[in-house]
Amino acid sequence: MDVIHSVAALRERLERVPNNVFVPTMGNLHQGHIQLIDIAKPRAACTVVSIFVNRLQFGPQEDFDRYPRTLENDFEQCRSTGVDVVFVPDEREIYPEPQTFVVEPSDLQHILEGAARPKHFRGVATVVLKLFNMVRPHSAIFGKKDYQQYIVLRDMIRQFALPIEIIPAETVRADDGLALSSRNQYLSPPHRREAPRLYQTLCQMRDELLQGARDMQRLELEGMAGLARNGWRPDYIAIRRQADLQAGTPEDTHLVIVAAARLGPTRLIDNIEIELPGP
Ligand code: PAJ
Repeated sequence: MDVIHSVAALRERLERVPNNVFVPTMGNLHQGHIQLIDIAKPRAACTVVSIFVNRLQFGPQEDFDRYPRTLENDFEQCRSTGVDVVFVPDEREIYPEPQTFVVEPSDLQHILEGAARPKHFRGVATVVLKLFNMVRPHSAIFGKKDYQQYIVLRDMIRQFALPIEIIPAETVRADDGLALSSRNQYLSPPHRREAPRLYQTLCQMRDELLQGARDMQRLELEGMAGLARNGWRPDYIAIRRQADLQAGTPEDTHLVIVAAARLGPTRLIDNIEIELPGP
């Protein structure tokens, strides 16, 4: 496995193997990331993982400075999963000058996660486009854990005609249902025990929809009230169309419930897809 820090060395290394698949990350790798690597590996001769905590996608009050950085452990996991190239640039490598050109996603960037985190998706799209230009993969793997991120990047690839196939991966969860996330380690032990309620709430809402409930607003409000009763501060729980994350009509069958809520100082997100029977 090659650990590469500069764009120049990366280009030189990848010139030899233009057939590569890419898994962008911010490090602190867990089983969710490892699954992406497992999906990537059979798709190309060379699997490239990037580890870069991207300041551009963090708001001024967010956890950029204390985001967990565990490089040695990440390298070990990459090595044992069979990664070929780990790209670990520092900030000067990705942003040698102020980033005055940015990718401005559609209005999708202002709803849900985007409403809670202004400029977040602009920061994500900008760094992912840069990383794509550095790695030049034919495929890239992203987790559905970050559902809106996946949709924004899928649309970016399509609208800019990037020659990259984007492959979504299912959310990997702990045994009690909590979606794995680097931010879970911020949870105190009591909050960690409470945290699975987010996914349980989504599962209950899914079951009600599958049993025929169609009063979307009631379901959303009940879901948020249930969390609030248990000490959460929900940002949103929303039943949306999978295709574009807009509010669905009663005819829509491919839905996703997306949610974000705070437990103490920690903000957790999750989602669940639902296929309703057609009319
Ligand atoms: P990061 O949070 O490190 O996530 C890297 C990739 O792992 C993303 O595609 C994310 O959706 C996926 N992932 C995280 N937890 C997962 C889980 N429990 N199950 C399945 N997939 C999971 O997302 C980012 O980094 C950044 O925004 C990035 C795309 C690297 C741009 O900076």
